[in-house]
Amino acid sequence: MKILTIIGARPQFIKAAPVSRVLRKHMEEKIIHTGQHYDANMSDIFFEELHIPKPDYHLGVGSGNHGKQTGEMMAKIEDIVLSEKPDYLMVYGDTNSTLAGALVAAKLHVPVIHIEAGLRSFNKKMPEEINRIMTDHVSEFLFCPTDTAVTNLDNENITHNVFNIGDVMYDAVLYNRELANEKSTILEDAGLTAKKYHLITIHRAENTDDIEKMKNILDAFSKIEDVKVWPIHPRTKHKLADYGLNLDDVPNIKVIDPVGYLDMLTLEANAKKIVTDSGGVQKEAYFMKVPCVTIREQTEWVETLEGEANILTGTDTGKILAAVQKEVSPQYKEVFGDGQASEKIVELIKK
Ligand code: UD1
Ligand code: UDP
Repeated sequence: MKILTIIGARPQFIKAAPVSRVLRKHMEEKIIHTGQHYDANMSDIFFEELHIPKPDYHLGVGSGNHGKQTGEMMAKIEDIVLSEKPDYLMVYGDTNSTLAGALVAAKLHVPVIHIEAGLRSFNKKMPEEINRIMTDHVSEFLFCPTDTAVTNLDNENITHNVFNIGDVMYDAVLYNRELANEKSTILEDAGLTAKKYHLITIHRAENTDDIEKMKNILDAFSKIEDVKVWPIHPRTKHKLADYGLNLDDVPNIKVIDPVGYLDMLTLEANAKKIVTDSGGVQKEAYFMKVPCVTIREQTEWVETLEGEANILTGTDTGKILAAVQKEVSPQYKEVFGDGQASEKIVELIKK
């Protein structure tokens, strides 16, 4: 059996690592890297650290508006699907690389396997929401990380071949946590003391593409006295430069380049709080039992909101400040599976 896997953005490398490891014991896999993310610290570093097999195809599509980026990916993926003739095409998450792969395969009648299916924010202004809905509706196998995701699909009348197998990102965290402990020197390198800093990540278009929202967010960060470390996503870096917003005015902030996965796990595990708009980082905060503040109006990861493990603030400065300063004592549950999602996916595909 031959699987063609499409990846292209940072979180997809991390999700594919545990699945590929198991998949390749049982079937043939070919990997297409769309090139959506291309900086060494957004792409290569994850292949090296996580021992992801070298892509068989690199499309080099790079950045661009949605239509151009997705369209170029589709044209190139189509040629490869026609020549490779895979039995299945596998996509992860909700990026433009996900959508491009799913649409091409569906039109060529190659069954699509969607990993991380069924997530919904119910906000169609988010590009990710469009990508998720479209991908789910053309997929043949839908591997969901949570019961909520299964229910969301059910509500859209998608019930065939829907499986809650848990979250592949949990597999990745369990597999790499010890390694991160052994290998990462990021706390020393960045001059940080465990549990004495907040970790920040902001990159979602809904925030970065709105100057007023970014001003509010930076205003909140300026009022947080604790040390803050921010591995900044290139999108955010470029946007702040365009807006003329300067992070030098924010006290006690260490802005660093994007870090590798092992350093990121270490930064997360040792943070006092995590302040983010990332989907993956919200979950990792939950897995590591570190309180999270999410600068968004909605989250797809609604399970994390229980017991204030994660607090949604939107971009109101006062709400962000209050959430970061709030003392919380969350209770965590096993809502993201048992760390065996990759094995379950492969078993189900084999069947
Ligand atoms: C994409 C996904 C988003 C996901 C994120 C993960 C879509 C629509 N969005 O957003 O869901 O959360 O990846 O990180 O697919 N850039 C670089 N170097 C890189 C990559 C990007 O400089 O290696 C800069 C470019 O200026 C580019 C911008 O970041 O225009 C945005 O990149 P893009 O891949 O279009 O979207 P992300 O914001 O990364
Ligand atoms: N991540 C990383 N280095 C960083 C920032 C994030 O390795 O500097 C990892 C993080 O641990 C998580 C994933 O990237 O596994 C999340 O990706 P991102 O926030 O870019 O996208 P999202 O999950 O919001 O789609």
